[in-house]
Order: sequence, then C-alpha cells, then structure tokens
Amino acid sequence: MPSASTKWALLTVGVLGLCYLLSPTSPSWPRAAPSPAPTSIAAPSPLPALPSITPCVANASMQNISGFAKLPKQSQDFMLYQHCRAFPQLLDVPGKCGGPAGSSNIFLLLAIKSSPANYERREAIRKTWGQQRTLEGAQIRRVFLVGVAPDARDAAKLNRLLWHEQHEHHDVLQWDFKDTFFNLTLKLLLFHTWLQERCPGARFVFNGDDDVFVNTDNVVSFTRDVPSEQHLLAGQVLVNTGPIRNPASKYFVPTQLMPSELYPPYCSGGGVLMSAFTTRAIHRAAQHIALFPIDDVYVGMCLEKAGLAPISHSGMRPWGIYVPRYSDPLDPCYYRELLVVHRFAPHEMAMMWQAIREPQLRCGRKVSIF
Ligand SMILES: *[C@@H]1O[C@H](CO)[C@@H](O)[C@H](O)[C@H]1NC(C)=O
Ligand SMILES: *[C@@H]1O[C@H](CO)[C@@H](O)[C@H](O)[C@H]1NC(C)=O
Ligand SMILES: *[C@@H]1O[C@H](CO)[C@@H](O)[C@H](O)[C@H]1NC(C)=O
Repeated sequence: MPSASTKWALLTVGVLGLCYLLSPTSPSWPRAAPSPAPTSIAAPSPLPALPSITPCVANASMQNISGFAKLPKQSQDFMLYQHCRAFPQLLDVPGKCGGPAGSSNIFLLLAIKSSPANYERREAIRKTWGQQRTLEGAQIRRVFLVGVAPDARDAAKLNRLLWHEQHEHHDVLQWDFKDTFFNLTLKLLLFHTWLQERCPGARFVFNGDDDVFVNTDNVVSFTRDVPSEQHLLAGQVLVNTGPIRNPASKYFVPTQLMPSELYPPYCSGGGVLMSAFTTRAIHRAAQHIALFPIDDVYVGMCLEKAGLAPISHSGMRPWGIYVPRYSDPLDPCYYRELLVVHRFAPHEMAMMWQAIREPQLRCGRKVSIF
C-alpha cells in the first residue's frame, strides 16, 4: 500500500483528467427537444412539451455603465444576462444515482462538460475512462453537461442527436441556454443545483472537460482513504493570477465586471476532484455570488467565501505533462500514475485506456514524471 502522501502525490498528478460523472441507472425519458425534424423517419417523436420557465430578459440598465458600448460582444452579452440563473432542463436523468436517498451508494460521479457537437469525445469517454462500473465496490456514474448550440439551425439537429444519445446511454443533462464559453459558469451552477437535488449523497465528484484523460482507477484509489465529509477540491492550483485585460483574449474580463486585479486561488477547470462536503459548500456560496464569465475562477470565489482553499495535487495535469525531447508523449508509462491529463483526442483516449491496462506494461524510472 502506498503511503497517504504518495497517494496524495499520485492524485495530484492524475487530477488533470478528472470529471464528475453521473450514473445511468434508472432510465429517464428525455423531457423535450424543441427541434421539429419532420423528415426523420426514425424520429422517436412526439417529444413532450418543455417545462415553462419565464424567459429571462436582458438587463437594459447595463447599457448605462460607462464604456459598455465599446466592450466586445461576448462581454456585453454576459453582462446583459448575468442575472439569469434559471433555465428549463431539456434532458435529465433523475434516477442516475438511484434517487436522493440511494445516492449515498455512489462513490464517484463523473460530470463532464461537453458541447452539443462534441459527439465523438462523448463516445470515446463512454467507452474508456467514463465507463459506469463498480470498481472494487466503488460505484462510478457519468453525466455529460450540455447547453444548446448557439446557432439555431445547428441547435435543432444537435438536440435531436442528444435526444438519441440520451435514449441509448441515459447520461445527458441538457439545459436550455446557449452553450458558449462565457456561459460555463451557468452550466456549473445548474449542475450543482441538479447534484443537490438528484444525487446529494455521491461521495466524490469529478468535474472536467471532455478532452481530458482521467485515470479513473487512480482517482478511486486516491479518494478511497479520504473522508467525503471533509473538504477536498483537488486539481492544478493557480495563485496570484488576475483578469486578462486584453479585449482580444478569450479570457478577457473588463474592469466594469471586475475592478480587482487579483483572482482568488483556484483550480484549472480542465479537471477537479471534489468531496460531497465541498460540493455543498460551493452550492451554498454560489447563492450569494454574482455569475462570473470564467467558471474555474468562479469556483475559487465560492471556496473563498466558504473559507476553503483549493488543494494542489501533482496527479492532476489539466495542462498536460512535460515530456523530455525525443521521447513519446503518448508513452503509457507517463499516464499510468496520473489522475487527469489534458488534452486527448478521442482515438488517443482509446489507445491510452488500453495501454495503461496492459498487464505486461513495464515502466522504468526514466519515464517517471515525479
Ligand atoms: C439608463 O439610461 C436610460 C437613458 O439614458 C434611462 O432612461 C434609464 O432610466 C437608465 N436606467 C437606469 C437603471 O439607470
Ligand atoms: C441590472 O444592472 C444594473 C447596473 O449594473 C444593476 O445595478 C442591477 O442590479 C441589475 N439588475 C439585475 C436584475 O441584476
Ligand atoms: C448565455 O445563455 C443565455 C441563454 O441562452 C443567452 O441569452 C446569453 O447570451 C448567453 N451568454 C453568453 C455570454 O453567451
């Protein structure tokens, strides 16, 4: 048995690819998809009507803020709809964790941020690290978190695709908001609300991107000795960073949105591992914090409000790993001991999943990443 500190180190290395997972145990009927698709012969229609939630309207007084008109479109969009937190759920899996009471039997929920068009990534994850299974008694469940494609014509077709995926796999949580980068925090909040309602007992939650590789076995063996009623939010920690003020950057945050030049400590959103205790703390704190366009920073804000700090784990490498020149970056020996690693194409996930499980895999010290 590795010592607790070795395990801790392993976890840090592997957290890059962790994601939370929802389980597909009870089949749920997709609630609705607004696309008509009249020509599809095999269409499993009719779809039930959407639950009605009063559509959230833009906050017109944002336009009175000085400099608003000159901000990039996505910042304006974010500010106009910053107050909107409730959106109808289009696809749900209410019984994923066996109901709120049964959910304490779930050890690890993989909650993976995806986008409607990322079909191949979802398929690869389903077949590899995101398999719903029981690992030495630990039940693993998977859910994908998606919104609606921003382009209306794509949206109708992709909603149909998601509907079919749901029918087959029962692992899609979809809400009726535009799936854009600046709406990731919204996705996070809607997921946490779902989690508290449908799966509050899950001991650990992995939340991450659909292009990370998670060594799920390592995640389970790392968390096995960690009490789930104690704070844990592990990943690749960033400290002393602040908002990017270059309007051309994807991460641009205007001073109108955040005057401070310093972000709280936070974990890269590529992959984080959380205990049940910490998911509740985040959910509670989020009720009092206005939405922020960068989702991983937002989690840092919630932790700070709750008086908690993110924990660095060397096994979590959401930015990838350093591989010496002339050696193979896809050598399985680098990944065997990690928890999460960015970023893998679908075929690379499949290759690596097989390779790290080869019983005859021999690794010398030269490929150790520690
Ligand atoms: C915003 O400005 C418009 C016109 O400049 C004004 O009519 C409106 O009352 C202002 N709204 C707020 C909330 O300040
Ligand atoms: C709308 O924006 C104004 C100006 O920023 C702000 O004071 C107000 O609280 C916002 N309203 C809502 C509903 O968020
Ligand atoms: C977020 O989604 C809402 C609802 O679809 C949309 O109105 C808003 O423009 C989106 N925000 C961004 C920044 O894309």
